[in-house]
Amino acid sequence: MCGIVGYIGNKEAYPILIKGLQRMEYRGYDSAGVALLQSKEIKVFKCSGKVADLEAHCQGKDISGKSGIAHTRWATHGEPTDVNAHPHFSSDRKIALIHNGIIENHIALRQALIKEGYMFESETDTEVLIHLIEDIHKKENIDLVESVRLALTQVVGTYGIIVLSVDDPNTLIVARKGSPVIIGFGKDEYYVASDASALVEYTKKVVYLNDEEIAVLSKGNDLVVKNIHNETVPHSIQKLQMTLSQIEKGGYEHFMLKEIYEQPTSIAESMRGRLNLKKEIVALGGITEYEDKLLSARRFIIVACGTSYHAGLVAEHLFEDLVRIPVEVEYASEFRYRNPIIYEDDVVIAISQSGETADTLAAVELAKKKGALVLGICNVVGSSIARATHAGSYTHAGFEIGVASTKAFTSQVTVLTLMALSLAMRKEKIQRKQYTQMIAALEDLPNKVKYVLDSVNATVQEVAIYMKDFSNVLYLGRNYNYPVALEGALKLKEISYIHAEGYPAAEMKHGPIALIDENMPVVVIATKKGTYKKIVSNIEEVKARKGKIISIVTEGDVDVKNLSDFVIEIPETEEMLVPIIASIPLQLLAYYVAVMCGKNVDKPRNLAKSVTVE
Ligand code: G6P
Repeated sequence: MCGIVGYIGNKEAYPILIKGLQRMEYRGYDSAGVALLQSKEIKVFKCSGKVADLEAHCQGKDISGKSGIAHTRWATHGEPTDVNAHPHFSSDRKIALIHNGIIENHIALRQALIKEGYMFESETDTEVLIHLIEDIHKKENIDLVESVRLALTQVVGTYGIIVLSVDDPNTLIVARKGSPVIIGFGKDEYYVASDASALVEYTKKVVYLNDEEIAVLSKGNDLVVKNIHNETVPHSIQKLQMTLSQIEKGGYEHFMLKEIYEQPTSIAESMRGRLNLKKEIVALGGITEYEDKLLSARRFIIVACGTSYHAGLVAEHLFEDLVRIPVEVEYASEFRYRNPIIYEDDVVIAISQSGETADTLAAVELAKKKGALVLGICNVVGSSIARATHAGSYTHAGFEIGVASTKAFTSQVTVLTLMALSLAMRKEKIQRKQYTQMIAALEDLPNKVKYVLDSVNATVQEVAIYMKDFSNVLYLGRNYNYPVALEGALKLKEISYIHAEGYPAAEMKHGPIALIDENMPVVVIATKKGTYKKIVSNIEEVKARKGKIISIVTEGDVDVKNLSDFVIEIPETEEMLVPIIASIPLQLLAYYVAVMCGKNVDKPRNLAKSVTVE
């Protein structure tokens, strides 16, 4: 949420900053701005809209400068206007600041600063921070780094900030709490950003800043990192695990489509080294050390948000079916404020693609405080949740840029399936035969996913042509396919803005059935096995009320096919793996509807990929 990027060195800063913003635009795209240090002044260019609007705004202007900072915003405080765009200035325009996060006590601080005579240009919480720094700097006559530190001690909330000053042209000051900050090292130069995608082109040597740390990036000097208590802290340089090709479109029209089509590979990557058909072994290296604790757990509590929460709902079925350990799945945002009962022998599993979601991170901290073992299932290596948890497994799906999550979801479910299988075997809750069948089915999963991608495209596009003109769509599923219905509906509403609801099919008669008429398309995931017969009855109920049925069925199906207006067939697999296969056509359906409706698929309005505010 909000992307920040900074550069200090011997190159022209502007192209580096703009490229960085473009790479991070999925974090927010309400407004963008850049500040460049030019001899004795800081030049700021900013405007509402996307990074492309900022570039247009800068056309023909003097954009020189060897150091600078830039920001792409997801508005929290104040509308996405030109004035509310970052960077924000001190009153004398000698210091500029960009910020990702929320200053929660901004009202009290603002009032105190107004009493001191400060004038505010914007409605943002960020402008409060720059004036607070300025106030301390002037009044106490102390250096800027120390002023930043003292200001941050007064702040309640989260921040990833970069500060640029005319008086110290060779230095950028960077700090973080709750919002990610990564520092990249070049030759006599530093790069800094809220995520690695903005740095990968220039360097692989990085330092991840920890919470309440302040770093001083001085051209030609070693990095200095202090904590909020003014103690120097050690930092370790790490190698970035990312390549440029992973974050480019590779010939696809949209990142989302590329990521949908990457799923045979991303799923295979999630299983690489963890699954061995010949030896019939499933093992997740990251959690082996904790396996005994997992096996004796009283309960698993899964915390997550958005699509990751839906992966958690699939995992609830997997763990309960296979491992026979009770599972609760919670929205992290509810869990953290609910004073939940967490026992020391509970295991909390946080699922997060970005590893940065503020609510999930807070849920992790809460569970740790209560003494539970906390595991992370994250995609982004080195992310805050990955580092805050006791152990975990990366999904290795590769970088996901489209705001609507696709390959991250199927990889999360894959990794959770591996985890459930490995625990089930150790706990002797699964028969050897079923275990072997599951391993074989998992081995074959990337092929099946590829087959779906190759075979459903034309039908899905036909359905999209039909669906694009409706205002509401209902998605129904049962058992393992209920989370698939939720995820399918979420995909559609996220990117096409068509209202969609996912519902457990049998619950439909307790409310949503009242909505059904010939203007309500109903997508039903009705694959063979499990509750197939039951869902056929639910489809009959929809048909009887003239609802239009779009069904996802197992190849060769007859009963549901006969009741459907459109049919999308997927190959047969183990019931536990159906959520992965069945979600593929639903991702494509949402994609094509959104494209046909002319929507910005990769950057849907009001959404951001990484939600680092609560
Ligand atoms: C945002 C994204 C969703 C994502 C959710 C949780 O809302 O737009 O795609 O599912 O955050 O993110 P996480 O990174 O924790 O999985």
